[in-house]
Amino acid sequence: MKNIADIRTEYSRETLSEKSVSPNPFFQFEKWFHEALSAEVPEPNAMAFATSVNGRPSARIVLLKGYDSRGFVFYTNTESKKGVQLASNPFAAMTFFWHPLERQVRIEGRIEKVSEEESDAYYRSRPLGSRIGAWASPQSREISREELDNKYAEYKEKFEGNEPNRPPYWGGYRLVPDMLEFWQGRPSRLHDRILYLLEGEKWVISRLAP
Ligand SMILES: Cc1cc2nc3c(=O)[nH]c(=O)nc-3n(C[C@H](O)[C@H](O)[C@H](O)COP(=O)(O)O)c2cc1C
Repeated sequence: MKNIADIRTEYSRETLSEKSVSPNPFFQFEKWFHEALSAEVPEPNAMAFATSVNGRPSARIVLLKGYDSRGFVFYTNTESKKGVQLASNPFAAMTFFWHPLERQVRIEGRIEKVSEEESDAYYRSRPLGSRIGAWASPQSREISREELDNKYAEYKEKFEGNEPNRPPYWGGYRLVPDMLEFWQGRPSRLHDRILYLLEGEKWVISRLAP
């Protein structure tokens, strides 16, 4: 069996420079996201999402469901562990890893809730099973499999013939960034790291040591 300490990959696909990136980090994200889609990166919208309370971080994978110049949106149960943490500390971080492209994107900033209308619109777009699942699952609370399956069956019956409405404890969060970093793997661990920092209204670009 391979020794874990011997697992390593040499990266050499591409380069990234201060001059080649867009002056606008949202455009740069869009470019890279489209390239991840074209390269058929599996679940390119999956990212590690980190919250923190009292100096104790907590991270999990969630799916990005939208982005524009306002920020980066995902959906969840607002009473989950992450929801409770965000209520007490709205600062959070997102990290994407697009392995086939040898790329990482890190985003940090402040979280706000998306509008009720936006959450409703996304909730309505989800498959019926997921809409019922949002009712059935008190996310991050202890539960038995039996209880979960029973709750799902109960809500399925309750909504028979009706469109389920969005649960009051389920909705979207938008991360409004003040920092983005685009990482492109390079040989000998001399990777390219291009940082965008928001200073006032202006994005300032610099390079970080790998
Ligand atoms: C690929 C993948 C995608 C996921 N997407 C979401 C998501 O969009 N929203 C969500 O609430 N949980 C998502 N989860 C589940 C979370 O990782 C996590 O288990 C859940 O949100 C509870 O986290 P919490 O206890 O920290 O609140 C996803 C998990 C995986 C592996």
